Amino acid sequence: MCGIVGYIGFRSAREVLLNSLKKLEYRGYDSAGVAIISEELKIEKKKGYIDNLKIDFDGSVGIGHTRWATHGIPDDRNAHPFTDCSGKIAIVHNGIIENYMELKEKLIEEGHQFKSDTDSEVIAHLIEKYYQGNLKDAFFKAISHLRGSFAIVAIHADERKIMAAKKDSPLVVGIGDHEKFLASDIPAFLSYTNRVMILKDGEVCEVTEDMVNVYDFSGKKIEKKIEKINWSAEDAEKGGYEHFMLKEIYEQPRAIDDTLHSLISRNEIGMDFEKIVIVACGTSYHAGLTGKYVLENLLHIPVEVYYGSEYRYRAEVNDSYLAIFITQSGETADTLAAAKRAKEIGFPSLGITNVVGSSITNYVDHVLYTYAGPEIGVAATKTFTTQLTTLYYFAINSAMNRGLISKTKYRELMNTLREMAHAVEEVFEEEEKIIEASKIIAEKEHMFYIGRGLNYPIALEGALKMKEISYIHAEGYPAGELKHGPIALISNGMPVIALVPEDSTYEKMLSNVKEVSARNAYVIALSPNEDVEKYVDFLIRVPKTDPLFSPFVNAVALQLLSYHTAKLLGREIDKPKNLAKSVTVE
Ligand code: AGP
Repeated sequence: MCGIVGYIGFRSAREVLLNSLKKLEYRGYDSAGVAIISEELKIEKKKGYIDNLKIDFDGSVGIGHTRWATHGIPDDRNAHPFTDCSGKIAIVHNGIIENYMELKEKLIEEGHQFKSDTDSEVIAHLIEKYYQGNLKDAFFKAISHLRGSFAIVAIHADERKIMAAKKDSPLVVGIGDHEKFLASDIPAFLSYTNRVMILKDGEVCEVTEDMVNVYDFSGKKIEKKIEKINWSAEDAEKGGYEHFMLKEIYEQPRAIDDTLHSLISRNEIGMDFEKIVIVACGTSYHAGLTGKYVLENLLHIPVEVYYGSEYRYRAEVNDSYLAIFITQSGETADTLAAAKRAKEIGFPSLGITNVVGSSITNYVDHVLYTYAGPEIGVAATKTFTTQLTTLYYFAINSAMNRGLISKTKYRELMNTLREMAHAVEEVFEEEEKIIEASKIIAEKEHMFYIGRGLNYPIALEGALKMKEISYIHAEGYPAGELKHGPIALISNGMPVIALVPEDSTYEKMLSNVKEVSARNAYVIALSPNEDVEKYVDFLIRVPKTDPLFSPFVNAVALQLLSYHTAKLLGREIDKPKNLAKSVTVE
């Protein structure tokens, strides 16, 4: 999991590569590096952030990398780009070369000397092995030996061209006039061009400033479409907010609206199913778990939810279902592996993703796109509420098509879904109150989140958001489970966030609140009902909605709570330690 970039054209390669890498820093920041053809091939690479690079050379062809370490510790030696023994070839790689040990041993026997502990370095040496004055030929031969996942970009000091290949890791080409860009993600070059070519698995491209030739791995030429992206470069920038995360929280009303408009405008996806299995990771898993309650409630069919990494351990029981894969990036390796398995078995499938042309789209029968726009902060925010929007829409529509709800009920539910953009705006009015609550939490080391039913997954999501950006130990529980063990951990003043919607869980949630209060927890409740104030230490009033839709407002209030707590603690909010935006390793 890393960000890779390439440039060939008329501008300063140093500037383009650094600008582009900055936009990809969310993909990993263990080390960074560039290689530029400046008469000869020159390389600068360092452990840590891109800002550590001191580049005193330039040219108009180059490649760059920002790393999230998998093989080899994060240090200067293991930073990309890698060169061959002659020092003329440079490569950057995102993914994992599974057979690198056997390739490396063979190359060492043949006299190649390695400088790093990474899997990626074998690619540079393989190209060198086959190089006879033609980078394209050597590149094709080299990649034919690779097993695993890769997006690779390669250059040779004696040739004015870039070669690139993609398999199970993202790679896109930016098309400018007399200049071309390569990157793991579109925002990397969006300030230069909005015309893109999205490469598919098994494709290789040969790029000069005036041409892009795409081939399959056997060398057969492929015709590719150029697509126009309508996000502006500004969309991918902070737009005046202190952090991407805050900007993205505030973009949710627009993102929910856009997603809903696109869902309404697309043709019905005619799918027949009597059971659903949802597979996802992290925040997307929590969207799936919320979706389970909504789908079961409206469709009265069983819905199971699996972590992407656990789906493979599900035994092949005699079963058939619609498999739904939720992944904002479309590149999460655990979710992709599950989608491949479901495809092999032959289950009908649906993907929900925020990234057009991402890998998940290759493994599913149908795709529903969320229109959150680029999400840069590592913590998922607007992609979560747009995933909820999509799942609710899917459930409401399927219920209508099956005659399970009346037209009046359908209209009522759809109207409430439309109102969510506004309900989320109302949550923003509570920000001052949320900041007050975050001051209490910022002083603590441990906390719990509790909810029931639909709001149990939101308790999990609130806790995930808190731990990933503030590093406070936070755990989410079904409120009724506390008394079966976790309540033993409640200590004096420990914050417990209780989600208390006005639904069938209301009374029972209040009982659970009383249980933890009696053990001296500091209870912060989220509820539309002001009576709750009597039972808790601190109340955050959330807008009144149909209780079925309460996850939207609760999730957004909890995003703000995590954000402000992390800010008070001075954390690196957009780039929390040990995490990367897109997790492309299993
Ligand atoms: C959440 O804030 C995290 N960034 C993480 O849990 C994320 O949701 C998970 O890695 C799944 O990513 P995906 O949606 O891109 O598949």
